[in-house]
Amino acid sequence: MAQLNTSLGPGSTLLALLLTAAAPLLAQSAPPATAAHEWTTAEDHQHMLAQLGITQLRPGPSGKATDPNFANVDEAKANRYPVWPQLLTLATGTAATTAEQWKQQRRPQIVEAFERDIIGRIPARVPAVQWSVTATADGKLGSVAVSGKQLVGHVDNSSYAAIDVNIELTLVLPNNVKGPVPVMIIFGGRKLQQGVGNEAVPGFGPPGATPVASDPPAGEQLVAAGWGVAYLNPVSVQADNGAGLTKGIIGLVNKGQPRQPQDWGALRAWSWAAARALDYLATDQAVDGKRVGIDGVSRYGKAALVTMAFEPRFAVALIGSSGEGGASPYRRDFGEMVENLTAMGEYHWMAGNFLKYGTAASSFGSMDASQLPIDSHMLIALCAPRPTFISYGVPEQGDALWLDQQGSYMATVAAGQVFRLLGAKDLGTNENYQTARMPAVNHGLLEGELAWRQHDGGHTDGPNWKYFIPWAARELKVGVGR
Ligand code: GCU
Repeated sequence: MAQLNTSLGPGSTLLALLLTAAAPLLAQSAPPATAAHEWTTAEDHQHMLAQLGITQLRPGPSGKATDPNFANVDEAKANRYPVWPQLLTLATGTAATTAEQWKQQRRPQIVEAFERDIIGRIPARVPAVQWSVTATADGKLGSVAVSGKQLVGHVDNSSYAAIDVNIELTLVLPNNVKGPVPVMIIFGGRKLQQGVGNEAVPGFGPPGATPVASDPPAGEQLVAAGWGVAYLNPVSVQADNGAGLTKGIIGLVNKGQPRQPQDWGALRAWSWAAARALDYLATDQAVDGKRVGIDGVSRYGKAALVTMAFEPRFAVALIGSSGEGGASPYRRDFGEMVENLTAMGEYHWMAGNFLKYGTAASSFGSMDASQLPIDSHMLIALCAPRPTFISYGVPEQGDALWLDQQGSYMATVAAGQVFRLLGAKDLGTNENYQTARMPAVNHGLLEGELAWRQHDGGHTDGPNWKYFIPWAARELKVGVGR
């Protein structure tokens, strides 16, 4: 106070008194938040490497065929590590042979490994989300009249006011269905007027138009089948880059400071947001909260698989072209590799600990994919027995070999063991994952709870929606007993 007096001069005594009186009050409210740590992706990446004691990462291969370090796409050389971690062998070495042992013992071990080393942990105390409707609109998708809501999920930031996270969700429901409808949450932003068909969506032609030579957009197909659709904007929750890790929901919980090695990455943060959207949908009387699914393509296909694996309330999933970090096995040397995911452009999707598996030099030596405690077949298995549809396109149309469709098929086959143990049907091909070969393009394996279809389009799940919707309706008994 003395200092205050001198610096403010003689007239400031009253102000000083007022401040003194207010001091206990000020002490009770939250201290003013210092701004979130601002730095570049390179700095954040380097900081994580330093925390882990890593001095050098192995570089990943290139995705460009003309580059000298182009990724391997020769199937004969792909299975460098042909034996993957056992799905049903407990950490003690004994076999899990019953559904109960899977649920009580093996599944938690796999969950723990994924959380510790691959996708990171959701912090124990993530602030609550409050949903509100900010706008409504009516429109038409194809011939179906729809109503839409723009929703915002505000994350309580009283613990750290410098970061404000507002989850953007656009919900569109068909008007002609009585009673609560099943809903697919799709990772990808779509504003209200786009969602209800009043405004063009870039890449989809004028409002109401059916894109040439392809199927109607997913939303239109869904409402025609009596489903609702909800578009979740992932980057409203967590930016898709490393510089953003001190902000968004990850930064909010860390009070603007960098991540620790076990903290969640963007895939887990996006999946957390999908679970919060499901919290909201479960309260909406027009929605059947027990029949809500999740969909995404590419990096959001990875996020959709993480969502389905870790949030048991999701009833069904469509996993589009998810590649490395999704359905594609880390142990295969084909297309994208662990070393790409650990690099600056992608490490933010993962936990910091994941970087260890791309290490060339460090205080703990070198490590590679063969040392991962898990592989992608286990992520798919965590979805069991709930209906899970693995979707890809073809390289000729732009669904690059980089994604390793064949390896993803092998992982889907391998995951079948857990679906069967839990009384669900897998792909039904009776193959060994090591020798399994993808079925012909456009030949869906859609008889069971675990499904596979490679369509003849590109890097999209668009052409598979017309197979997914009836399959999901059958699996979830949509319209039966409502
Ligand atoms: C890159 C990345 C893939 C990812 C894709 C996408 O190609 O290597 O892992 O799936 O981007 O999200 O579009």
